Amino acid sequence: MSDIAYVNGAYLPLAEARVSILDRGFLFADGVYEVAAIIEGRLVDNDSHLSRLENSLRELRIANAPAIQTIADIETELVARNEVNEGLVYLQITRGAAGDRDFGFPRGTAPTIVAFAQKKNIIASPAAQTGVKILTVPDLRWARRDIKTIALLAQVLAKQAALDAGCQEAWMVDRHGLVTEGSSSTAFILTKADVIVTRPNSPAILPGCTRKAVQTLAAREKLTIEERCFSVTEAYEAKEAFLTSASNLVLPVVEIDGRPIGSGAPGDKTRLLRTLYLEWAMNPDATG
Ligand code: PDD
Repeated sequence: MSDIAYVNGAYLPLAEARVSILDRGFLFADGVYEVAAIIEGRLVDNDSHLSRLENSLRELRIANAPAIQTIADIETELVARNEVNEGLVYLQITRGAAGDRDFGFPRGTAPTIVAFAQKKNIIASPAAQTGVKILTVPDLRWARRDIKTIALLAQVLAKQAALDAGCQEAWMVDRHGLVTEGSSSTAFILTKADVIVTRPNSPAILPGCTRKAVQTLAAREKLTIEERCFSVTEAYEAKEAFLTSASNLVLPVVEIDGRPIGSGAPGDKTRLLRTLYLEWAMNPDATG
């Protein structure tokens, strides 16, 4: 974690950054967040993250948040003040701290805005070389997973179940046996017929920004992509599998529930998509 955080208009040393215990984010998980990657000191695909943030705020009716350009400026300032060349920016907006704990929206309470930056090796990540192992778990979340809320308890439990099983990520599964998404990532498979499959956007999943960019890059490469649901059984039989997220870009999946995927090593198409994503992230204008 880097040293300078942002809290409601002030840049402070992390140890001095504080919010009230009456903050509705703390009491009710009444807030939204975004995570964007930083590569070569620049935020990656941030317009996409900020437009999803606007959508999350609108869906939860959190009013009076700063303008999106102001939020972008705060993030850029944090990257600079913390001298982050490679890593992540986390930004959270809650409905604020009213003087009590009432469920209904408070009147005239300003939202709380908190952000920090974190250094992390995301390009030379060991997991990109080795691939990750997945554990499937039931999806215990609420019905509006398209909103990026800070209510992440089901994902926390899913991730810990995966870690306890010696895996690195959990894929959550709906009551029909269909994969929704990862605890903090989007799930993809490549079928034996070389079709990339990922679940269509709907209230069942978060519309991943990395997912969207990867779809565009794959289409440009003339790879076939199908947006449809896939089952855990179909995933076991896949030629390749991978996940996408701002914090991990594109990561190969080499095992699901103890079953090797394909050869059990990162797949060629997955490697290609990671390379294409990195090229685009480092030079978005050159590749369109
Ligand atoms: N999580 N699905 C879920 C449930 C997620 O939490 C995330 C991202 C994604 C991928 O979205 P994107 O490509 O826009 O990062 C999909 C972030 C990284 C996190 O909570 O840390």
